[in-house]
Amino acid sequence: MNIISTKDFSPENLGYFFDKTTEMRRLDNGTLDERRELASRHLGRQMYSLFYEPSTRTRSSFGLAAAKLGIGKDQTENAREFSSAAKGEALEDTIQMFNNYHIDALVIRHPETGAAARAAAVAADHMAIINAGDGKGEHPTQALLDSYTIYEHFGRLNDLSVTIGGDLRQGRTARSLARLLALYPGNDVTFVSTPSFRIADDIKQELTQAGTSFRESDNVHDSVRQADVVYWTRLQKERFDPGESMQDEEFVIDQNVLDVMNQKAIIMHPLPRVGEITTDVDRDPRALYFRQAGNGLYARMALLDYLMVQKSSLHTS
Ligand code: CP
Repeated sequence: MNIISTKDFSPENLGYFFDKTTEMRRLDNGTLDERRELASRHLGRQMYSLFYEPSTRTRSSFGLAAAKLGIGKDQTENAREFSSAAKGEALEDTIQMFNNYHIDALVIRHPETGAAARAAAVAADHMAIINAGDGKGEHPTQALLDSYTIYEHFGRLNDLSVTIGGDLRQGRTARSLARLLALYPGNDVTFVSTPSFRIADDIKQELTQAGTSFRESDNVHDSVRQADVVYWTRLQKERFDPGESMQDEEFVIDQNVLDVMNQKAIIMHPLPRVGEITTDVDRDPRALYFRQAGNGLYARMALLDYLMVQKSSLHTS
């Protein structure tokens, strides 16, 4: 199994991943014997992280998740500069070469939308491809930890009012979360951004087909008032067209926004934040973004454990 898109998830396998994520947190926070048992669970398996774009959370949490499960790991952390991509090697050639290193999973982050799918198309069956973010496309494991965080707090993923704000045109985490919310009935999504940074039509079409109600707005205060979940994202300036800019002063979660938010709402952010949530918000009990990032470790442990168990049950060496 590869994890290329949020489309690889279903309410059924998400239910399994959520239970497993909770179990991974419990065991990792348990006794030394429990941690040692975890660390011997997948001895002999190997994972490689191939990152053509910067990352703090995704790369480190996959690496730690592997280590905590006994999976051997290695990585290229700046593959755009320090791999043979800099000499012009095609992604497909790199992946076919990794096929012959006989690893069990390859975690890839790449600036081009569709790169993970291209990798999966040439990957050997024994090597699971995990999309760790492909350009403006998707970030499915982020959606996994985001949805787990919502589920952990509310005990459900249906009948929620979710406001997703910021740079929605370029933000792959917003796209993946919207897709995942459409798997559950009764959700109501508000996309809030300036007109030129709106979510793309493909996501709006998918929500319509799924029967998920949504609207678009450029008014932050109006959009957060009724929300159960306020999911904020940064401006992805590294993806701007030359000469492009956006006035983002109005797209900041600060005390004024907190004042109009529902007391039972939660505030999420995939991180990194670069000013779009002021640091005083961190003290508000509704701010869950650091817990959310921590959940990324356990969600990725759950995912790697599932993929390795699946390989063993299929007798795939
Ligand atoms: N949320 C996220 O993908 O963070 P990194 O870019 O640090 O991995």
